[in-house]
Amino acid sequence: MTVNAFHFSFVSVTLLVSLLLLLAARLITRYRRLSHIPGPFLAALTDLWRFYHQNQPHGLRTKLLALHSKHGPLVRYGVNSISISTPSAIPQIYGSRAGFVTADSYKVLVGISNGREVPSLVSTADEAKHGAFRRSIASTFTPAGVAPLESRIDTTIRELHSHLVRLAKQNQPIDLAHWTMLFSMDSAARQAFSESRGYLSSGHDTDGTIALIRARFYHWGRWSSWPSLERLIYRNPISILANPACATLFHHVFNNQTLTPRRPPAILHLRLRRAPEPPRQIRHYRLLMSTISGAGDTTATTLTAIFYYLYTHHPALAALRAELDAHTHTTNGGTYGGAGQFPRHSTLKDLPYLGAVIKEAMRLFSSATWPIERLVPEGDMFVDDIRIPAGTSVGVLPAAIHLDTHVYGADAAYFRPERWLEANKEELRQMEAAHMGFSRGRRACLGKEVALMQMKMVVAMVVGQFELEISDPNNAGLQADFSAAVACMHPLWVRVRLRGSTPQY
Ligand code: HEM
Repeated sequence: MTVNAFHFSFVSVTLLVSLLLLLAARLITRYRRLSHIPGPFLAALTDLWRFYHQNQPHGLRTKLLALHSKHGPLVRYGVNSISISTPSAIPQIYGSRAGFVTADSYKVLVGISNGREVPSLVSTADEAKHGAFRRSIASTFTPAGVAPLESRIDTTIRELHSHLVRLAKQNQPIDLAHWTMLFSMDSAARQAFSESRGYLSSGHDTDGTIALIRARFYHWGRWSSWPSLERLIYRNPISILANPACATLFHHVFNNQTLTPRRPPAILHLRLRRAPEPPRQIRHYRLLMSTISGAGDTTATTLTAIFYYLYTHHPALAALRAELDAHTHTTNGGTYGGAGQFPRHSTLKDLPYLGAVIKEAMRLFSSATWPIERLVPEGDMFVDDIRIPAGTSVGVLPAAIHLDTHVYGADAAYFRPERWLEANKEELRQMEAAHMGFSRGRRACLGKEVALMQMKMVVAMVVGQFELEISDPNNAGLQADFSAAVACMHPLWVRVRLRGSTPQY
């Protein structure tokens, strides 16, 4: 070997060893930062662990539920990510003055339009901008603000009713998850655009919007664990110009809909003039992205879960029917259950058992598929005296906290709406405070009142008029794909029959 060759290999080996040492030091430092919090060893070393699980159909949700049962209320599921299932952490993380901002996982949800990034409400990272935008539209989403939407919801419910009557006559099994999705999307479109998009009437995703929204949620799910790589791949200057998914949705909304700046969407006869940013189209876009995609899968998933639990728990179904019958008999002259007579929201909004059914179904089947992530601000955070340093991403996974037996009782894993009615004042306060179905604080679901109004109305209609026989031969329960940001239900096959008619199978 010549002196030069020896010198070259010595330098190469030294460089390689130094690189390996640097890598090892980096891994150890990353590992040690949160090493006092239990979780899979690999998850503490690399976010590839999280990436892998989020991209499986079982998603992070199922994996984290198992890890919480094994390790308790704190679980490390990423290099910088902690899932917390202690109720006392909720006001700390999501409380209105907490200073916890959204984690980087929200960045991959930011849409791209005309070569620029346009965040929806939920993906707006800047707290001041988020607050200003939210305040400018908040009054539209209060109970009084959403009241005018009742007639639009009622129209879609009547349409669903006529389809269910037709399907009952055909006596074929139908996929309930599909029909709740068509209902939610037509309802959302009526609220937003003043017109149905024909999902229910055609029985499918007529204009591809459902597929586009799903693609967006799958993209969020796929890349939530690795925003820096997502940015490199999808947000470099070339990709931004060529990006099909988000740009298509934008053009789709503005070119294929009858929506124009002169004809603003119905739900948005909002405070556009008071909104803080000038370009009107961008404001429409942000709001539409927020409301249409916020309303579809979440509402459909929740409705499917409600029907599943009710029609597999007959005492609960009977109790709900008794409440609806009794109430509407006294206020509507006994018309409830008659064809074409669907209770109004004013009749339903305060019915305790109906409210309890919805809360209980959302407790057992929340649509979020990973913890609702926020960054710990300066000054660190303490959970049961355990320190979580500033800059860590922390979040509560609704599915995990909703199974807390200290809060919801020893039978927390079971569907029992009565728990919400039997609890004393203090117990009820704790149960409400731990319920994360609509999230909490400054970024809690803006559409909660609309969602509750339409769920109460549609549940009352279906329960009053139809029997659903769930075909679940393997007793597999509710199945969903948890790899998207919002759980996407697997088909749930049911036979529909008019209440009071005899089964023909
Ligand atoms: C049962 C149905 C629904 C459920 C379970 C649900 C759940 C949620 C959750 C958990 C969040 C917080 C997301 C996060 O911080 O990562 C959220 C936010 C949001 N939801 Fe809903 N949602 C539902 C229906 C709706 C409807 C019908 C609309 C629109 C009319 C809507 C609009 C929004 C918006 C705009 C946000 C973002 C709020 C913000 O960042 O300030 N949601 N929703």
